[in-house]
Amino acid sequence: MIELIEKAKKTHNLTKSELTDILKDNSVNEELFKASDDVRKKYVGDEVHLRGLIEFSNICKCSCKYCGLRKDNTKLERYRLTPEEIINFAKKASEYGYKTVVLQSGEDAYFSKEDLTKILKEIKKYDLAITLSIGEKTYEEYKAYKEAGADRYLLRIETTDKELYKQMHPNMSFENRVRCLRDLKKLGYEVGSGCLVGLPNQTIDSLADDILFFKEIDADMIGIGPFIPNPNTPLREEKGGTFELALKVMALTRLLLPTINIPATTAMETLNPNGRIIALQSGANVVMPNVTEGDYRRKYEIYPGKICISDTPAHCRNCISGKIQLIGRTISTDYGFHKR
Ligand code: 5AD
Ligand code: FES
Repeated sequence: MIELIEKAKKTHNLTKSELTDILKDNSVNEELFKASDDVRKKYVGDEVHLRGLIEFSNICKCSCKYCGLRKDNTKLERYRLTPEEIINFAKKASEYGYKTVVLQSGEDAYFSKEDLTKILKEIKKYDLAITLSIGEKTYEEYKAYKEAGADRYLLRIETTDKELYKQMHPNMSFENRVRCLRDLKKLGYEVGSGCLVGLPNQTIDSLADDILFFKEIDADMIGIGPFIPNPNTPLREEKGGTFELALKVMALTRLLLPTINIPATTAMETLNPNGRIIALQSGANVVMPNVTEGDYRRKYEIYPGKICISDTPAHCRNCISGKIQLIGRTISTDYGFHKR
């Protein structure tokens, strides 16, 4: 097993069966995390890129079985920020020192292509890189957003197991999701994807496929998080993923895609009070603090126990900066694009 990890560290390639061997064997976890941390340091250095996250609408037309924003969840109080509020949060993010804002929402069909391009152009005035995370759109929409100034796009594949994908995503298609990722690449976006770890019926084999898929699509960013059962969804009784397995999938992703950007995800911190720092020491190099203000944070309840729901943007910025410096890492002052 140690040899496999050494091989991955040198060649950045593992076969599916080698990946599953490592995923199944917990006796070498510390070696795996150390190797991934070494690769992170060698290829992307000690800088941590901060991305300010704006959760601008929790309205969603989809019914993903695991997600608290699913349209069938009547317990959730819905909200949608106005364009002025979105632009104002972005402006404040730039004042806090962020170089990137991530605009995230449910699959909300409310904003037209024209509305969104206007918002993007306004935000561009604040010298920010913009990441969109607003779901599946047409090629024309993606093209319009790119031309209006969007730089990156996050769209997790969630799982590459097609049968499981179907079970988890009523009325959606795996093929369309892959189409979106390919369109985004073609249009010149930096493309982020990722998966959930610990979905019901998810196999170790399929997690290995997920990692190989990230390589196949030539991802620029990969976000990985444990599945956390939400009481207001059909998966309320399920077990959920573990912090450890999510961390292993993340570490293996770093070994195979050494130069990409990898966030220490909020879901990891939900399962472990030091989760983001542990992730930063096991291959991650990005953190996405929330810059949404007020009561909206609490309402963006994808899963229970989400961190920072009562904190302010200023508090989170200071909190995470302090933690990052304590482990001897620095906060990047550039846009943090993927350097190959
Ligand atoms: N637990 C953890 N992560 C979740 N997501 C959605 N629902 C859950 C959950 N219950 C993740 C999905 C999505 C991202 C925004 O949040 O992977 O892409
Ligand atoms: Fe929000 Fe620490 S990052 S309180």
